[in-house]
Amino acid sequence: MNTLNKFKLENKTAIVTGAARGLGKAMAAGLAEAGTNIVIPDINYKGAQEAAAEISELGVDTMPLETDVTDEHSVKKMAEKTLKKFDKIDILINNAGIVVHEPAEEMSKKDWEEVINVNLTGVFLCSQAAANNMKENDGGSIINIASMSGYIVNFPQPQISYNTSKAGVIQMTKSQAAEWAKYNIRVNAIAPGYMKTDMTKKYVDNNPEVKEHWIDPIPMKRMGKPEELQGTVVYLASQSSSYMTGHTLVLDGGYTLY
Ligand SMILES: NC(=O)c1ccc[n+]([C@@H]2O[C@H](COP(=O)([O-])OP(=O)(O)OC[C@H]3O[C@@H](n4cnc5c(N)ncnc54)[C@H](O)[C@@H]3O)[C@@H](O)[C@H]2O)c1
Repeated sequence: MNTLNKFKLENKTAIVTGAARGLGKAMAAGLAEAGTNIVIPDINYKGAQEAAAEISELGVDTMPLETDVTDEHSVKKMAEKTLKKFDKIDILINNAGIVVHEPAEEMSKKDWEEVINVNLTGVFLCSQAAANNMKENDGGSIINIASMSGYIVNFPQPQISYNTSKAGVIQMTKSQAAEWAKYNIRVNAIAPGYMKTDMTKKYVDNNPEVKEHWIDPIPMKRMGKPEELQGTVVYLASQSSSYMTGHTLVLDGGYTLY
């Protein structure tokens, strides 16, 4: 097959969790440009509806869903509704995620569990639901959105539950890849560095510490833009990465090099 054709994703169906905004929405748009129909399960249903309407203008079919990735019943309904409309699940992007900044010695069990439930258990539940369909078909591609925080400890903000959850996502990616290769399901992860989204905006705006601690240590001297993940997600979702599984690609402008 021609190399460029291997990036095409026509007649595929991708679920992108948490794609009402931010990195998920940008990755969903990138996949749509490659031809994939897009399902947007998000706890923010209004945002999911708006994102789905915007992405459908790229010429693909879209479906917003009100889904809580931490809730097994809600995730089951996500898979059922996707299959009812699109017949199969080819691609899953486990993107929904949250962060809490709190010193480790003060963090309540509730705050700890909230992050672990969304960032780690949510990835487990959605992957399981998708894999059970993929294994009945021709396989598929699962892409887990980890973070450079799975490798390093961010500074100065304390975020123990987030860092722990993202390290868990990197190891979960390897475990899923090893277990599901026999079903022709590839599982990889993307570990972004500091990206400009609503998640980071509230810390970046009017905060002089951010330049010193977030931007200056980046060899490329800038935060990433959400659209800079689009090529990577299409690569991992498509046949162009057919021999890659269990791998985490770091996109951080070089932050973790020092
Ligand atoms: N922005 C960054 O700098 C950065 C860096 C590395 C990794 N990441 C990761 O990328 C992913 C997206 O980050 P973002 O910056 O776009 O965040 P964001 O806050 O802009 O978007 C997250 C989305 O997830 C949804 N969501 C939250 N909890 C949910 C739940 N329980 N069920 C379903 N949906 C839920 C939100 O409604 C929102 O639409 C996250 O996993 C995040 O950890 C972000």
